[in-house]
Amino acid sequence: MSKLECVITGVGSALPEQVVTNHDLAMKVDTSDEWIRSRSGIAERRIASGDEVTSDFATDAAWKAMDRAGVKPRDIDLVIVATVTPDTTFPSTAVHVQRKLGVPPCIAFDVSAACAGFLYALNTAHAFIATGQARHALVIGAEKLSCFLDWDDRATCVLFGDGAGAVVLSAAPPRTARPPRGVLATYLAADGRLAKHLHTDGGPASTGTVGRVRMNGKEVFRHAVEEISGAVFEVTERAKVSRHEIDWFVPHQANIRIIQSCAKKLELDESKVIVTIDKHANTSSASIPLALDAAVSDGRIERDQLLVFAALGGGLAWGSALVRY
Ligand code: UT7
Repeated sequence: MSKLECVITGVGSALPEQVVTNHDLAMKVDTSDEWIRSRSGIAERRIASGDEVTSDFATDAAWKAMDRAGVKPRDIDLVIVATVTPDTTFPSTAVHVQRKLGVPPCIAFDVSAACAGFLYALNTAHAFIATGQARHALVIGAEKLSCFLDWDDRATCVLFGDGAGAVVLSAAPPRTARPPRGVLATYLAADGRLAKHLHTDGGPASTGTVGRVRMNGKEVFRHAVEEISGAVFEVTERAKVSRHEIDWFVPHQANIRIIQSCAKKLELDESKVIVTIDKHANTSSASIPLALDAAVSDGRIERDQLLVFAALGGGLAWGSALVRY
């Protein structure tokens, strides 16, 4: 039998209702709309209310993706949630999502790779499907980052937001006389020597708390531009595709200046770049599927187009994926 393709059959996302603008934040910390917009491109973010948990957004996003894919809970045989803000230390957020969706017993687990988490999860699901261990996988990036922000640290608290994005990844027979579709190539990397630049100062085994986000913004910025553009070069080479064939660059949404610098290095016109940072801020593992869903929903991203995803974050961990949608 010829090799199965691993296709994104549905995309969905979910955001908390509460919108927090830069002006709202400027009333609480020493910052301004002008500083946040010009340094990061962020205008507003969504922030969860106290009783909302990560699996709530993850479940909503998953329902929408399943609806679009035309699959039912009984069809799902793998649930992976990429998150650094799980509902509980254990069990995984994936099993909370599985229960809320009514998915019968299946493989379910979380992946922790911060802002690169969605790409680590996508790559993992791809491997399960390619080896025949799953047919329909839910791959979800979901975060409630507001729960571990230091609201007195203006250098970090203004940059992040909450939300979730999901895709259904399905095994499909290859099409005849058409270019291969689905996940075409992936690339992942991490370098723990750089962990000091972006981390939380706590955790269950060290402080018994979740800790607070600490970031050396300038260092992370520098690595992000270098590694995100390098990761895109890597997947295009692996798939033997020219960068000029890319229809859409769907990068992690951490900073508009990082996105623009990467697009420039990759010689990708800005009209091919999906940007949602103005509305969502940095939602870590949720940012790529949130951006993907925005552009699929408004009709910019169409079937058969060539997409490239890329991200870098805490770890530092980074990666990319080339997908024919
Ligand atoms: O998703 C994970 C990956 N994360 C990232 O990729 C983030 C990467 N880094 C960045 O996006 C940028 O470095 C930041 C947006 C975090 C910061 O931009 P920057 O241009 O590197 O600013 P900076 O940190 O050098 O700060 C410049 C000034 C400082 O004041 P002084 O020392 O020059 O007087 C800061 O104290 O801006 C000050 N500042 C602020 N001012 C108003 C820092 N935060 C704020 C703030 N409002 N919120």
